[in-house]
Amino acid sequence: MICLGIESSCDETALGLVQDGKLLDSILATQVELHALFGGVVPELASREHYRFIGRLYDTLLARNSLTGQDIDYIAVSRGPGLLGALLVGVAFAKGLAFASQKPLIGINHLHAHLLAVGLEEHIDFPALGVLVSGGHTHIYRMDNENSMLLLGKTLDDAAGEAFDKVAKILGLPYPGGKILDELAKLGTKEEKGKKLFPRPYLDNDNLDFSFSGLKTAASLYIAQHPKLIQQITNLSKQALTEHNTSSELCHMCAAFVSAIVDTLCIKTNRALERNKDIKTIILAGGVAANSQLRCAMHELATQNSVHLMVPSPALCTDNGAMVAYAGWLYAQQGLHNTLDFETIPRGKPIPQDYIQ
Ligand code: KG4
Ligand code: ZN
Repeated sequence: MICLGIESSCDETALGLVQDGKLLDSILATQVELHALFGGVVPELASREHYRFIGRLYDTLLARNSLTGQDIDYIAVSRGPGLLGALLVGVAFAKGLAFASQKPLIGINHLHAHLLAVGLEEHIDFPALGVLVSGGHTHIYRMDNENSMLLLGKTLDDAAGEAFDKVAKILGLPYPGGKILDELAKLGTKEEKGKKLFPRPYLDNDNLDFSFSGLKTAASLYIAQHPKLIQQITNLSKQALTEHNTSSELCHMCAAFVSAIVDTLCIKTNRALERNKDIKTIILAGGVAANSQLRCAMHELATQNSVHLMVPSPALCTDNGAMVAYAGWLYAQQGLHNTLDFETIPRGKPIPQDYIQ
């Protein structure tokens, strides 16, 4: 059984093929360089780029696997959350394919696809704690099985990745800044205990939610007081970073900022584990899961709590078509699909569980 997955929720147009639970192939066109010119994703441009690429990617993916549209048994597409115009390109394309080929179609929750993706690489032992940290979301879920995801906590304002990107922008670093802050932080010295540059935000409460906007403000005030930290780096490469001869003050500040985010994520994850004693696995997913400090800290946390940490490989952490195809394949096993009139859901709105059997 072959499931096609289509992803267009933000700035990557991506398609994947999963056959009998295994990844067959995937393809992606990134728009990151285009949006970097504007310092962030421009929704209108993202939609146009998806529209420009999606048909070509589909043709290439099928041709290089010697398949035709009739060989696809099931079509899955990210239906939200995301940028509405961008999502609509993928959803309209998927609906057209499903209508023409008379194959079943399913709308996938993009966030659930991120969390399930690691199942392509390793068996997931449930119940699991899903920690999804991306440019748009910071969510903690309790996952009892592939389609039972209980949201335990989420960010009330900025997502962790967004905080990274915004602070990087203030520092004059290119978009997206998370990876660069990670590299600079590695060159910085670790903060001494009791001498923390930035607060660990929104911990003085009893919940599992996050709030990173205050931390972002603290960082921007610090940068305003230390204007020498501001760079003018437009090239993304690591080499460019080294050649730029970045100051130790900048690296120290980046290390402190990354630590503040990582500590906060770990403290709330630990709190979730304390309240869900039967958890066997932590799944760390989303673009920020690529952060080296976060991976180390989560690994330590998992070991201390005797749970297994699963982190997908980098290509499965960021937006991709394989994760959508895999989620679709899992639902296909249960005979689930949607009618052709299912809705596309923008960020901030709940996604209905309106599958039919
Ligand atoms: O999941 P993702 O590819 O896109 C969505 O937001 O759905 O996540 C992108 C985010 C960006 O904010 C980017 O700066 C961040 O992931 N990111 C990182 C690292 N690599 C990517 N943040 C911290 N450290 C990294 N190494
Ligand atoms: Zn995503």
